[in-house]
Amino acid sequence: MFGASTYTLPASLLALLAILPAGSAFSLRATKSQDLGAVLAANSNLSTYYNLVKQYPDILLQLPSYAGVTIVAPNNDAFTKYQNWDGQNQSMVTNILEYHILQGTVATGAVLEGPSTFASTLLTDTAWTNVTGGQKMIINKQPGDLVVFTSGEGSRSTVLQADISFTGGLLQVVDTLMVPPARLEPTARDAYRDLTSFLGALYAAGLVEEFAETPNVTIFAPRNAAFQRVAGTLEGLSRDELAQVMRYHMVPGAYLPSASLANGTNLTTAAAGGTPLHILRAGNNLYIDSAQMVQPDILVANGVVHMIDNVLNPAASAATPDPAIGTQAPVFPAASGGASGTGTAAPVPFTTALPCTADCPVTTAANGTAATGAAFTATGTGSVRTTASRGLGAAGPRCTGMAAAAVGVGVAGMGIAGLV
Ligand SMILES: *[C@@H]1O[C@H](CO)[C@@H](O)[C@H](O)[C@H]1NC(C)=O
Ligand SMILES: *[C@@H]1O[C@H](CO)[C@@H](O)[C@H](O)[C@H]1NC(C)=O
Ligand SMILES: *[C@@H]1O[C@H](CO)[C@@H](O)[C@H](O)[C@H]1NC(C)=O
Ligand SMILES: *[C@@H]1O[C@H](CO)[C@@H](O)[C@H](O)[C@H]1NC(C)=O
Ligand SMILES: *[C@@H]1O[C@H](CO)[C@@H](O)[C@H](O)[C@H]1NC(C)=O
Ligand SMILES: *[C@@H]1O[C@H](CO)[C@@H](O)[C@H](O)[C@H]1NC(C)=O
Ligand SMILES: *[C@@H]1O[C@H](CO)[C@@H](O)[C@H](O)[C@H]1NC(C)=O
Repeated sequence: MFGASTYTLPASLLALLAILPAGSAFSLRATKSQDLGAVLAANSNLSTYYNLVKQYPDILLQLPSYAGVTIVAPNNDAFTKYQNWDGQNQSMVTNILEYHILQGTVATGAVLEGPSTFASTLLTDTAWTNVTGGQKMIINKQPGDLVVFTSGEGSRSTVLQADISFTGGLLQVVDTLMVPPARLEPTARDAYRDLTSFLGALYAAGLVEEFAETPNVTIFAPRNAAFQRVAGTLEGLSRDELAQVMRYHMVPGAYLPSASLANGTNLTTAAAGGTPLHILRAGNNLYIDSAQMVQPDILVANGVVHMIDNVLNPAASAATPDPAIGTQAPVFPAASGGASGTGTAAPVPFTTALPCTADCPVTTAANGTAATGAAFTATGTGSVRTTASRGLGAAGPRCTGMAAAAVGVGVAGMGIAGLV
């Protein structure tokens, strides 16, 4: 699995390690029973990881022992079943290894059932993350004392052996590699396909880079059904008007896990004037203005995404929910024309703006014409036109629309507990 070649440590990592306090670094030599090397050598299920550590000793040798770290060590099976693993790819190995080292000692025994806990890792390379200070992962304790680490694209790693101490911190053995969170585009398009309309709207408004690369963002992303309900209205907006609406869904410079969204908090958004979002908690429900959070804590390369059930409107920031009912009414005026149907048969707005990829359907997945026909009202110069989307060459082919039946699968059963 690993070649015999040796790697030199990238400058970026050396720089990172240089800022860590110098101290009594632990040794990989198995001379003391508490050393990491001894712990790894004694566990035959960790031989792949142990070889990796020996191949990249500098990463571990220079960690501060007194500050404490948590090493998430994938067992041998974890490497075998991770299809993209390439032990020869220095960038991949280094960055994934960094993502498996948590800042501070995270003892699973101290984790309570309930809200998710977020931990920062040593992954800081901007080619991999724009969460400055270290990309994050999520820790959950589930019934039966099961501890699960959630990483990118909803990937779950179960802790098999917990809280093994060594000189310098704790070791957690997991059954699955943690995946560094991907950028917003593949996350919304492939892993959480209930967010394709949201992503399409960002393309249509020319905001993809802003949403995907602004450091430390919190994004409230309405699911497809939410866009379907206001399709007629949104498709009638100019590109600038749509951009103003979409920017109201992003809180820049604030990494906000769902558990940190306190009742009564106002969040400054990227919309013009920073129009605030209002957080309301009612029982176990969490609302952003009048939209309910339906799936919290989706990790992306530059922050965290929370899925909501209504499109937010900066012109209706005073909207409040009625917690006694389910999905709240849309907060946009009804369109004079244009259908806003929900359900699997209705078109999913803005998906025509998604750039084509290799697996992009050439014809609509629903075999209907509605998905292509009604997506844009591109009549005037101010209208939203897919060809105007930033980052999209006018020449490039596009998806011709996906029906909800094809995009509504999402990642079911994520089981991220603790939205209370
Ligand atoms: C270690 O591997 C053996 C078989 O290779 C397996 O039976 C055992 O459950 C593994 N232990 C852990 C903690 O993964
Ligand atoms: C190494 O992995 C990264 C991330 O998957 C990839 O972008 C890059 O192309 C790979 N490099 C090589 C040389 O395979
Ligand atoms: C982080 O942001 C920079 C622009 O500031 C961008 O070039 C880079 O690709 C981003 N990294 C990721 C993983 O998206
Ligand atoms: C991003 O957030 C982390 C903590 O979550 C913080 O350490 C870092 O300074 C923040 N960076 C910016 C640019 O806001
Ligand atoms: C949040 O905004 C609302 C409405 O504008 C205001 O009544 C409230 O005082 C604000 N709360 C805080 C904590 O600033
Ligand atoms: C949140 O605040 C509102 C108004 O301030 C209050 O009515 C509501 O009971 C609070 N919710 C919780 C869960 O405390
Ligand atoms: C799709 O539409 C074409 C032309 O209207 C028709 O020939 C074809 O049978 C349809 N396919 C399906 C799967 O409904």
